[in-house]
Amino acid sequence: MVARLGLMLFGALVQGAIAANGPYDKSSASASTSASASASASATSGAGVKCTGTFTPVSASAFVKNMNPGWNLGNTLDAIEDEGDWNNPKVTAGTFDDVKAAGFKSVRLPVTWAYHFTTGSPSWDVDAAWLQRVSDVVDLITARGFYTIVNVHHDSWVWADVTASGANLTLIEEKFYRLWYQIGTKLACTGSQVAFESINEPPGTTAEHGAEINKLNNIFLQAINDAGGFNAQRVVNLVGATQDSVKTSQWFKRPDAKFKNPWAIQYHYYSPYEYIFSAWGRTTWGSDADKAALDTELAAIRNNFTDVPLIIGEWDASSVNTETASRWKYFDFFIRTANKYNTATVIWDNGVDHLDRLSHVWRDATALSILNNAVAGKTNSLPDSTTDGSATTQQSSAYAYHKAGDAVTDVTLPYLFNGNTLSSIKNAKTGAVLTKGTDYSSTSSAIVLTSAFLKTVFTSSTATGSLANLTVTFSSGAPTNIDVLQYATPVLGSTTAKLPATSTDLFIPITWKGQNRPATVKAIKSDGGILIDDWTQYLGPLQQGRLTYSGQWDWDANNVILKAAVLDAVRSAGKTTTFTWEFYPREPTNVANFTLTV
Ligand SMILES: *[C@@H]1O[C@H](CO)[C@@H](O)[C@H](O)[C@H]1NC(C)=O
Ligand SMILES: *[C@@H]1O[C@H](CO)[C@@H](O)[C@H](O)[C@H]1NC(C)=O
Ligand SMILES: *[C@@H]1O[C@H](CO)[C@@H](O)[C@H](O)[C@H]1NC(C)=O
Ligand SMILES: *[C@@H]1O[C@H](CO)[C@@H](O)[C@H](O)[C@H]1NC(C)=O
Repeated sequence: MVARLGLMLFGALVQGAIAANGPYDKSSASASTSASASASASATSGAGVKCTGTFTPVSASAFVKNMNPGWNLGNTLDAIEDEGDWNNPKVTAGTFDDVKAAGFKSVRLPVTWAYHFTTGSPSWDVDAAWLQRVSDVVDLITARGFYTIVNVHHDSWVWADVTASGANLTLIEEKFYRLWYQIGTKLACTGSQVAFESINEPPGTTAEHGAEINKLNNIFLQAINDAGGFNAQRVVNLVGATQDSVKTSQWFKRPDAKFKNPWAIQYHYYSPYEYIFSAWGRTTWGSDADKAALDTELAAIRNNFTDVPLIIGEWDASSVNTETASRWKYFDFFIRTANKYNTATVIWDNGVDHLDRLSHVWRDATALSILNNAVAGKTNSLPDSTTDGSATTQQSSAYAYHKAGDAVTDVTLPYLFNGNTLSSIKNAKTGAVLTKGTDYSSTSSAIVLTSAFLKTVFTSSTATGSLANLTVTFSSGAPTNIDVLQYATPVLGSTTAKLPATSTDLFIPITWKGQNRPATVKAIKSDGGILIDDWTQYLGPLQQGRLTYSGQWDWDANNVILKAAVLDAVRSAGKTTTFTWEFYPREPTNVANFTLTV
């Protein structure tokens, strides 16, 4: 238990007295290397918590190997201000059962501590109840045989932002030390499957910031070692500025040699930005250039740290906003490349992206299977899809699209078998196995669904929507899915509006007709100019003038949504603007216009 810390006691603490939330000696926690080694060696032996259990030491490289692949409990204990405040309810054991059943080996546990300090000024004691909650969740995780990584999460932009104007670094360092001393005390006797990560995505844009973050890594190590228990042998994750691979490569310094903890570097990877975040109409991924860029980025940090275990502690291509075939290609290539550079991966899941925690259903089971097979080194076959930046339409073999009203004909789906052979195709709902020859055929680069088969599923006048899912199995790797989908262009409930005097998100009613989401939206002013990001005129035809998802557009079951920021842009341009909503499959006629007049 951590005692409450009063004002007077605080005064003594900064002078180095030992108190309930830890000794603090700036010199022993400095980033300098060997100079202070002997001075603080005593702090790592004898002091702090005494544990009765046993601890089986594990090297950082074994930890990293065994924890792969991992899953993030996102938007949960990291929510601001409390667990349950964002889109997820408080986590229950069932979620970890789902994650275990899905094949994951570890859970990263992001925790925001900023709103769980006891009141009173200055007080850096963490509420005992919150420490207990974190400890209980750690127990739920480890009881299922997972490895876990506990961290200090959004504190990095609440009180521990070393780049903030007027940031008091002394204060950040002391608070950071005391926080980690308390976490280290509470979790001191947990087993070697529990690792600590110093801080999530600490802001940093200069070498000085990088040096300060190196110092925080050392302060973190000092604090957990001072807390005692098994912490001196515990695996830790150290970080560089923003946990970005380039900044980490540039500025990260190894920790003080006096600390004997096995350590890995953790970094995050959400790249290419425009694909992962659906910016500027980018709905494709998988060209040779895309793959080369990803390989180069993972290789660069590996080559900088040839002897350091590496963890990509966050990455994702969300099933919410990325196109399906491109997403499966991304999952496959990303995991293979991480394997190639001996790097473990921990997928980000904010509760909307992947696991539906209430229904226990994974939103994209195919992606999960591709991930697990790629981790195991098995070759996956994948639906092909458009990757050419000069294309004017987008093809995706994750779907057998049929336009309502058109005659039902054979559908050819380009496929990347990658050396595997096609074993079977089955209707996922009925379990009926399709007959080769009459229902489908395959070439070395395509699957052909015959019109005879498709006519058993729908006619040209069947209601729009997903009509069947076909499970395709191969001689190796993940089964994939073909969604047989009839579509027409969705219809907007209104096609024009006057720009309101003040901007709020504008909900435009829509009747979906097939795939119930937009691909992107293009915004062109009455003078022909691009509303936002004029430079996108230099991108390909599927990207010019397109807006960016989440900050600028969104959708729900009944609406497409223009965000307030877009209305602001129309107001400052002073020009009537036409928004062309684009749907899947992307083709010039599968669009609906909405005009905002000024
Ligand atoms: C910075 O924080 C330290 C530690 O709390 C404090 O002693 C010092 O007065 C602060 N400096 C300023 C300029 O506020
Ligand atoms: C180390 O990282 C930097 C920054 O990303 C990069 O420029 C450099 O090429 C890397 N070094 C090696 C050996 O890959
Ligand atoms: C096919 O799978 C998708 C994705 O899981 C689902 O939304 C759709 O309802 C399924 N279609 C059928 C006919 O079951
Ligand atoms: C949508 O608006 C654009 C730009 O004004 C125009 O070129 C296009 O023909 C319109 N499309 C439809 C389907 O109305």
